[in-house]
Amino acid sequence: MIRQAAIPGGEFDGRVAAVTGGASGIGLAVASELARRGAQVYVLDLSVDEVPDGLECLRCDVTDRASVRDAVHSMGERHGRLDVLVNNAGIGAQGTVEDNDDDEWRHVLDVNVTGIARVSAAALPLLRRAAAAPDGGGSAAGGGPAAVGAAVVNTCSIAATAGLPQRALYSASKGAVLALTRAMAADHIREGVRVNCVNPGTADTPWIGRLLRSAPDPDAERAALEARQPMGRLVSAEEVAAAVCYLAGPSAGATTGTELAVDGGMQGLRLRPVQE
Ligand SMILES: NC(=O)c1ccc[n+]([C@@H]2O[C@H](COP(=O)([O-])OP(=O)(O)OC[C@H]3O[C@@H](n4cnc5c(N)ncnc54)[C@H](O)[C@@H]3O)[C@@H](O)[C@H]2O)c1
Repeated sequence: MIRQAAIPGGEFDGRVAAVTGGASGIGLAVASELARRGAQVYVLDLSVDEVPDGLECLRCDVTDRASVRDAVHSMGERHGRLDVLVNNAGIGAQGTVEDNDDDEWRHVLDVNVTGIARVSAAALPLLRRAAAAPDGGGSAAGGGPAAVGAAVVNTCSIAATAGLPQRALYSASKGAVLALTRAMAADHIREGVRVNCVNPGTADTPWIGRLLRSAPDPDAERAALEARQPMGRLVSAEEVAAAVCYLAGPSAGATTGTELAVDGGMQGLRLRPVQE
């Protein structure tokens, strides 16, 4: 991905942002868009070798408390604040409840759910500092109409709100992300930290590329995934990134504890079959 030049006077000018899983797919699109809109962006990922110039990289495993602490410490040393945290790192799992063993359940929940708690807990002192800074908008309770505060955006999924076949463990993990988003929003609203999530439908990322390559008939599998979304196409990583930037930014200053679907209409619409 070629990173586009930053917009002068962008809405995230002077802000510091961190994106977990920011080296690929949705996370990379989010990191690039936040940077384009003016933020100093840190990519926290297992592998940061192929991240484009202009994004700071910190090798970090969200399942490892020491690695998370070190990454957050580095940002704190350099900036003393964190305005935006995007908890996006996630992994998939396929199958019904009969198919995943206890180790896989532990690992997927560790990355997708506990990872968010781990990174958020480590980052909260910096998020609170950003929210309390003179340019941070003050607390939601006392900062007046312009209060924006700091923001956490979690990458959830359509799997949290619709029953998808062969996704028992993954759906359980994303259902937990949705509940965690709301609970965190309640816990931190009075500290000026907003917490929301995006629920992408099937998005065209390297993850889906891997999934398609492993299917017996990749073209048929892609066509089935496209047909499942009422718009008849996959979501792009850039469309999800735009939604994340909205939730993280000043335009969403009054929005917390919500989920924003970016799913080609998959969650809410019931179309009639096309009549030939
Ligand atoms: N692609 C989709 O269709 C889709 C749909 C809904 C939700 N999502 C969610 O979007 C997020 C990103 O998915 P994507 O499609 O961009 O996937 P991706 O595989 O392209 O990128 C995921 C990134 O997360 C990183 N990562 C994985 N485990 C990590 C760990 N333990 N610590 C730090 N980084 C880790 C990977 O290295 C990778 O860079 C995930 O949370 C996923 O559940 C994806």
